[in-house]
Parts: sequence; structure tokens; C-alpha cells
Amino acid sequence: MLNKIFYFFIHRFGLDVAADKILFRKVAKTSWYQGDGATMVTLLAVQLLTGAVLTLSYSNSIDTAYQSIEFITYHKTMGWFIRGLHYWSAGLFVVMLVFHLLRHLLIAGYKTPREGTWWTGVGLFFLVIIMSYSGYVLRWDERAVYAVKILLNILSNIPYLGDELILFVQGGSEINSHTLTRFFSVHVILVPGIMLLLVGYHLFLVIHQGTTSKIERRIPVETKEEHAEIYEAAKESSSEGEEFFPTTMASSGIMSFVVLLFGIILTLTLGPAELYPEANLTETSFPQEEWWFWWYSALIAILPPKSVPYFVVWFPIALFFFLISLPLLDRGPKRDMSQRPLWVIFVSLSVMGLIGLSALRMRSPWTGWPSQKLPPFPKEFVVTPGLEKGREVFVQYGCNSCHAVAGIGPSVGPDITNFERLLTREDIIKVILHPSPKIAMPSYQGRMTDEELKYVSEFVFVLQIQPRRK
Ligand code: HEC
Repeated sequence: MLNKIFYFFIHRFGLDVAADKILFRKVAKTSWYQGDGATMVTLLAVQLLTGAVLTLSYSNSIDTAYQSIEFITYHKTMGWFIRGLHYWSAGLFVVMLVFHLLRHLLIAGYKTPREGTWWTGVGLFFLVIIMSYSGYVLRWDERAVYAVKILLNILSNIPYLGDELILFVQGGSEINSHTLTRFFSVHVILVPGIMLLLVGYHLFLVIHQGTTSKIERRIPVETKEEHAEIYEAAKESSSEGEEFFPTTMASSGIMSFVVLLFGIILTLTLGPAELYPEANLTETSFPQEEWWFWWYSALIAILPPKSVPYFVVWFPIALFFFLISLPLLDRGPKRDMSQRPLWVIFVSLSVMGLIGLSALRMRSPWTGWPSQKLPPFPKEFVVTPGLEKGREVFVQYGCNSCHAVAGIGPSVGPDITNFERLLTREDIIKVILHPSPKIAMPSYQGRMTDEELKYVSEFVFVLQIQPRRK
């Protein structure tokens, strides 16, 4: 009887056919690291589930968004865990995505017959970046507004369309309640919807064509027909093929499990992303992007300042066109790493670049070149212990990452000994606590003790009256 009911449902829902097509099939052998795709599917499921739970309590109005996140974090049962897992799993997703992309550059996963798979993948890559960015804004703390301003700033550099795009993102002539609603709709409905369709299509193509097998890398495959022939032979052979279920699933499942476990451990130990003070549309805030974008800020900080407005617009566009055109440009049959040394060098350099730049950014919050070196006192200067202390605070809070002293140091901000006009002690304190929103200086309100503020402002005050060079 039970048996009959079981098969009734199996047949009426076509589960036997689905299982045959997806689970009980033979595939060509793959390596353990090809579990990165399965890992992303797992993380995506985690994102959908935790995200759905978060929407139950999240409010997308600018007056209550921040409070609703506080409520989720501090009052709702397990809220902190759900929010934390959503955050960490998002970060790990980005890491896995970069791994997946670089791996396919190494083994030429974009070559015949997988161009379509590659293109849907490129689409997903950019959608994930949109998700990561829009999710960050939903927190509606100080940094969220800062992030929106950065986006608007980037858009403003786009020729012709810039102003229209800004209006579109803001939902009006300034950042207002529509802005947050737009980000919410993009993050929760629009992009996830497109993503699910694309992921489904991507997976369909992967099942249809098989993943880049070990044998393909040895035998050069040029056409779609050749590929089909070799792949068919490989999956049926006892040495080159394996059963998708359970063999392939188990090997790729291990990676999913380990990464998910890592995400859970991160959530349990570090908790959800720290909430900064509530967003405030009139003051500048503390620049602080998610750790998976650190490399990018570091890169921007070390580029010559004049090139940055062009870089932020053209880099993503160039990356997009590079990835899209790759399958059309690089069409030779060689797939194995040993035959493509230039790609190995390129990918290694990219990985080193990403890690190196992130490390730079970690050491200095604002610029790529952190310095622990105390700035010089001008010649024939009477140094008091108070000034000495102020000089240390100046370095401790990274003022020297932007301001030069007596011509020595970077020039993100003005040289302390060469301000446009002399400032009073009150002026200086005011700038440190509440820099105008128009300038690229973080506010130190609530981040410095009164004593430190006194020393550092005195240091700036005294140094500025050194013989002027202008
Ligand atoms: C991220 C870079 C950055 C950091 C860090 C930074 N500043 Fe600034 N600062 C600026 C910029 C940019 C300006 C504005 C220049 C302008 O007016 O065009 C500025 C302006 C100032 C001014 C006013 C100058 C004037 O002519 O009005 C003072 C004073 C000042 N900063 C002090 C400090 C102190 C003290 C610290 C550390 C506690 C600090 N800054 C940290 C970038 C920075």
C-alpha cells in the first residue's frame, strides 16, 4: 500500500525522470575543487532562507530600517544568528565566486561548447556584486549612506547618462525615503529573481554539457561534436567516468559542507556585521566597506588621484567586456594549465594582487600607504611634551595618511603647515569632529577621547603657523 502511494507521487510529479536526468547519470571524472559550484548552490540556498526570514522583521522605511535591524540583532530569537549567517555566507559566496571564476580561467572553462555557460556565469558574477552592495545599504547605518554616496559619485563620472542614473538610484533629487525602497526592491525581488533564473539556466547547461573533465584537458577538443564524442566515451569508461550520484555528489558535497560550517563558525564567533550609528543624511561618515571589497579601495587609494574618476567607471565596464568577449577571443583547443602558462601567471598575479591589496587596506583604513612614521617637526621648532603627544595622536588616527607636514607626506588633504588660511583652535576641533560632507575626511566624533582631541588639535594649531611657503 505505502509502496503504491510512494510511486503514485513519484510518477505524477515526474520525479523518476528528474532523478534519471539529474542524479542517476554518468559523468566524466572531475577533481575535488570542482565542488565550488555545488558550494555556491548551497550558499545561495542559505541566502534565500536567511534572507526570507530577515524580511519578516525588516522595515524598508528610512525612519525605521535601522531600528528594525537593531530589533533583529538584539531582541528577536536567533535574530543575530540569522543576520550573521546571511552576512558571512554572502562574504563566502563572493570568495567562492572569485575562486570559481579564476579556476575557469585556468582550465579554459569558457571554451567550446561552454560559451553559453560562461556568459550566464558572467551575468551572475555582476548580479552577485549588485546583491552584495545593495544588501550593505539596507542596514541604513552611517556606512550605508556613505556607500550610496560613493555609488552616486561613481555614477556622476559616467558621461551623458550620469545625472539620469543618479536620479534613478536616488528616486529623486537627493537621497530620500525612495532611495532605500529602491535598494530593498533590487535586493529582495528584482535581482534574486533574475539570479534564480540564470542559476537554473547555468546548471541546466552544466548538466547538459558536463563539467570540464580531466580527459578534455589532455585531448585537445575543437568542435562541439568532438567534445560530445570524447565526453560520451569518457563517462562510460570505467577509468575516466563516475556516477554522479553518489560519487560526484559526495566529493563536491564535502566542499559545500566545509564552507558552510566555516560560515557558521564565523557567525558564532564574530556575530553579524557591526552596526554603526544610524544613518544621518547631513554629516559625513566613516568610510568602511565590506572586507571583500578591501582590495578595491586599496587599489583606488594607490592610483594617482587624477585617474580615479576614470578608473571607477571604466574598470567595471572593461572587466565586463573582457569576460564577455573572452570565449570569442581565445578559441584554441588547449585547455590544460601546462599548455597555457600565461594564464597561470595572470591568475597567480591576480590572486597575489587581491590578497596584497586587501592586506594594505587592513593596515590603514583610508589610504593604501599606511605609515607609522611620525611626521617631522619643522626646523628650529621648540617641541613641548604636549606637541610630541599630539604628533603621536596624529599618526595613531591616520591623519598622516592624508595630510603632509612641512611638505613631507601624502597630499589627499592639505599640508598642515600650508592651509589656505589660518585656523583657530575651535575651527580645527570643528573640522576634526564634523568635517564638511563635501570633503574626503572622516569624522572623528565619538572616536577620540577629549584628551586626544586636545593634543592633536594643538599640534595642528601650532604647526600651521610655521613660516608659510605660499
Ligand atoms: C581620508 C583623508 C583624511 C584624513 C584621514 C584626515 N583628513 Fe583632514 N582633511 C582631509 C581633506 C580632503 C580636507 C579638506 C581639504 C579641502 O578643504 O579641500 C581636510 C581638512 C582638514 C582640516 C582643515 C583644513 C582647512 O584648510 O580648512 C584640518 C584642520 C584637518 N583636516 C585635520 C585633520 C586631522 C587632525 C586629522 C586626524 C585626526 C585628519 N585631518 C584626518 C583629508 C583627511
